Amino acid sequence: MRNIVLAGFMGTGKTAVARELARLGGFQRIEIDKEIEKTSGMSIPVIFETLGESAFRDMESREIKRAAARQGVVISTGGGAVVREENMAALKQSGVVVCLSATVETILARTSGSDRPLLQVEDPMAKINELLAIRAPYYARADLTLNTDDKSPQQIAQEILDTLNKVTA
Ligand code: S3P
Repeated sequence: MRNIVLAGFMGTGKTAVARELARLGGFQRIEIDKEIEKTSGMSIPVIFETLGESAFRDMESREIKRAAARQGVVISTGGGAVVREENMAALKQSGVVVCLSATVETILARTSGSDRPLLQVEDPMAKINELLAIRAPYYARADLTLNTDDKSPQQIAQEILDTLNKVTA
């Protein structure tokens, strides 16, 4: 079976939806950020702080390739994973890529108080807007995009499963 890959900006609900997808569909779940933390023995903020973003991106690409080699699993990616062509190519080849989206206001509310390194700035709203503008064309490459503003993770997961069932029916 092909994998279900969740992409999308920070705070769009990838982790929560992946959990529901795994539960509803009986799939194993791989969270790329968690794999990076396990392999490196460091938290994401510590990796950014001590090794820098480009080292983090290399680790991310390695874990994405490892996960994409699996079958029948739900893979949730970090918000910036789609930007590297090699990542998107591996993910698209391994399964269906679903991008989750949300408004800037929702993203800000869901990420405020979190330890996400890229949002530790004076004006997180401006940073979110800047990153969203850069990443929009990459997110647009997903096979399917779903807005998560007013829906529960369970509703979104069910919608994904229903859509995939229709496509493969
Ligand atoms: C990042 C998103 C984070 C994590 C890292 C970088 C990004 O994951 O990979 O902090 O570049 O958008 P989430 O999208 O799960 O927050």
